[in-house]
Amino acid sequence: MIMDTRSCVKIKNEWDIVQARQLGRNLSKQMGFGQVDQARITTAISELARNIYLYAQTGIIEIEIVRNIEKMGLKIVAKDQGPGIKDIRQVMMDGYTTSGGLGAGLPGVKRLMDEFNIHSQVGQGTEIVAIKWLRRARAREGLTVDMDQGKGLEDYESMLINYIAHKKERTLYNGQKLSRKMIEHNVSPDEVVSMHIDVLNRLLPGLDERVRASFDFLLEVMVGYGFAYREHQSLRDRQLQLDAEINIAANVQQSLLEGTIPSCDFVDIGVISTPAKKDERRLLSICQGR
Ligand SMILES: Nc1ncnc2c1ncn2[C@@H]1O[C@H](COP(=O)(O)OP(=O)(O)OP(=O)(O)O)[C@@H](O)[C@H]1O
Ligand SMILES: [Mg+2]
Repeated sequence: MIMDTRSCVKIKNEWDIVQARQLGRNLSKQMGFGQVDQARITTAISELARNIYLYAQTGIIEIEIVRNIEKMGLKIVAKDQGPGIKDIRQVMMDGYTTSGGLGAGLPGVKRLMDEFNIHSQVGQGTEIVAIKWLRRARAREGLTVDMDQGKGLEDYESMLINYIAHKKERTLYNGQKLSRKMIEHNVSPDEVVSMHIDVLNRLLPGLDERVRASFDFLLEVMVGYGFAYREHQSLRDRQLQLDAEINIAANVQQSLLEGTIPSCDFVDIGVISTPAKKDERRLLSICQGR
């Protein structure tokens, strides 16, 4: 039976970040969160605590079990009285950083958790509240996406059993095809590792404790990887969108500037603006008086 708990860790140095992580791990495990969600919660706590340590020097992380009629969850509150954040919209954009980090922290925490709220006032401090809800109904924790529930795991399981037994190239090829399907369904690398661990635990119950521990480590690393990978995807999407907008602007400008440029040997003629230097060829020919 889980008692309603609220615990608090003061963040003053890097060691306190580890304490906060540990507390989050213990509580999430007690509540029955699966391995992937435990790793996600601890990664979120770690990022919030690190931000306190880096930008506000001191603050607190509160971790609390919350519940309403239908569900139970873990709430993380990160509070500090540091410099505050001037433009919240900007810090929530992937890649924005003032410290030369990846700028993946806050948008990443938002993606890892189910609810995320941030309040900040310059000169007063920052308070971030994030919640992860426990989903007992989910067929397989980890497959959070629209892939047929449990189907990905079944495929993975049968392929893995098949491969261990026969080591066929064909099974490896099928695995490769499954990975494509997973990418299409937005399954992240940590979810794949979690599937592997699940299958191995069932297949080899007497698995060496050291091998099991190595998988815990791998899972944690892959949660971080998935975190950065999603940030990369979002930055790429934004880049593609910007490219498309610039192209439209360049085309509009092209049609507006249509016409013959008077030839004159001794003077450069023309007023021109080029969106992001998209039209360098045309600019060059005008400057050369052609
Ligand atoms: N508690 C805070 N107090 C003041 N400013 C903050 C705080 N947390 C974040 N920020 C500001 O928000 C920016 C974005 O934070 P975020 O965690 O997303 O990225 P980062 O810390 O710069 O890099 P990363 O976390 O990827 O190493 C920071 O660079 C910092 O300027
Ligand atoms: Mg950060």
